[in-house]
Amino acid sequence: MNVVVLGLQWGDEGKGKAIDYMAGGFDVVVRFQGGHNAGHTIYHKGQKVIVHLLPSGVFTPGTVSVIAHGVVVNPLQLVKEIQDLEGLGIDVSSLVLSTAAPLILPFHQQLDIVFENSRYLKIGTTKRGIGPAYEDLTGRRAVFVRDLFDRDRFYQKIKPLNDYYNHLIDVYGGERLDIDGFVEEYTAAGESLRPHAENTAYLLNRFRSEGKKILFEGAQGALLDITLGTYPYVTSSHPTIGGVFSGTGLSIKAVDKVVGISKAYATRVGGGPFPSELSDAIGDRLREKGNEFGATTGRARRVGWLDLVALKYAIMVNGVDEIFLTKLDVLDGFETLEVVTRYRSHGRISDTFDPSFDFLDGVETVTRSLPGWQEATGNIRSFDGLPDPARDYIHFIEDYVGVPCRFVSVGSGREQTILR
Ligand code: GDP
Ligand code: IMO
Ligand code: MG
Repeated sequence: MNVVVLGLQWGDEGKGKAIDYMAGGFDVVVRFQGGHNAGHTIYHKGQKVIVHLLPSGVFTPGTVSVIAHGVVVNPLQLVKEIQDLEGLGIDVSSLVLSTAAPLILPFHQQLDIVFENSRYLKIGTTKRGIGPAYEDLTGRRAVFVRDLFDRDRFYQKIKPLNDYYNHLIDVYGGERLDIDGFVEEYTAAGESLRPHAENTAYLLNRFRSEGKKILFEGAQGALLDITLGTYPYVTSSHPTIGGVFSGTGLSIKAVDKVVGISKAYATRVGGGPFPSELSDAIGDRLREKGNEFGATTGRARRVGWLDLVALKYAIMVNGVDEIFLTKLDVLDGFETLEVVTRYRSHGRISDTFDPSFDFLDGVETVTRSLPGWQEATGNIRSFDGLPDPARDYIHFIEDYVGVPCRFVSVGSGREQTILR
């Protein structure tokens, strides 16, 4: 069985925890899109570790970690992450990096900053250079991992780009970049990554033909997808199912199951519409209890009730088979819980999620109140052991979206997971 794990909300659903929990049953864990905008939290031997580029399977001995060509790679960040994990005694030698992954270069980050600062309505990007790097890819001028291995070629490729972007950076009043300041550093990082680099499309297809089990680790979430998400408040890649195929070179036939991850409530970091957002004391309580502060940027996450209209949309576009429901324990102790079942937009009731800003901006939610529970769920390990209202809450979700919650997470530890 090859399984894809995808975020169904606006990211930070707990993909790191879910992958870490599941990785033991797989030979290979693959990242296929996004970059170090991702922050996936894992508790390794009780210690909190956040991975940004490395697959969350690196903590599971015996699994091969692959960064496929759909990922945009900042080579300095990757080298640093490898060193940091080695410092924790984690063996990262199995890592394979695609030679065809586009690079994030210093001007991409600089552009991300000046573009974001100039926006009246801010996307709230992670300022890691993700958008500008993908722009160079679709603009057919990207520089790739393989280009790092030949200093002259690397220089020839990035010189015109750097000159061009310096003009743009001047217009925006940003800080010009001197190419000589980073060529050596980047090619040196390239040398240390070189032993890991190969054509991962062929490698993954070979793994597949050998019957190895592959786990695909999505970054971000469906509602941040460049075409299916809440544009323009999105990231620049496809965190939805299509990203798996374009980002790895494996075909649709390589995927046996799609597991979608959702929190038992909702969060969003950055700008953009969020119909079920709570800007009140309940929201503050959810943020505190859920420790909703970004794993990459440290920003406070916006929080709200679970939005079943949005969740059903994310399940539809991804063809989700099973849900991995996380952070149920954060809802412990609430008297009443609300879930969004419909929207009211321009006087009309609707149960469809139209991701356009025109629709979502100012949309009102119609919610259903469900009873909460007072017991702590963090130590419960069976579905039947959950309080009745918690089981009813999960059944309500399943009835609404038509997909079973096969996994229920009640804490950040690997073992705090209920498998049904
Ligand atoms: P990711 O980006 O999807 O991997 O998610 P993040 O790591 O950015 O954010 C999820 C946060 O929730 C992390 O701090 C996790 O340790 C934590 N977490 C994951 N699952 C649970 C859960 O079931 N309960 C609680 N309380 N925390 C969880
Ligand atoms: P993981 O994998 C949550 C958000 C940013 C911003 C928008 C665009 O940890 O779930 P970008 O830097 O990608 O151009 O920012 O997307 N964003 C995330 N939000 N989790 C993430 O990753 C995110 N990656 C990007 O906050 O709103
Ligand atoms: Mg995250």
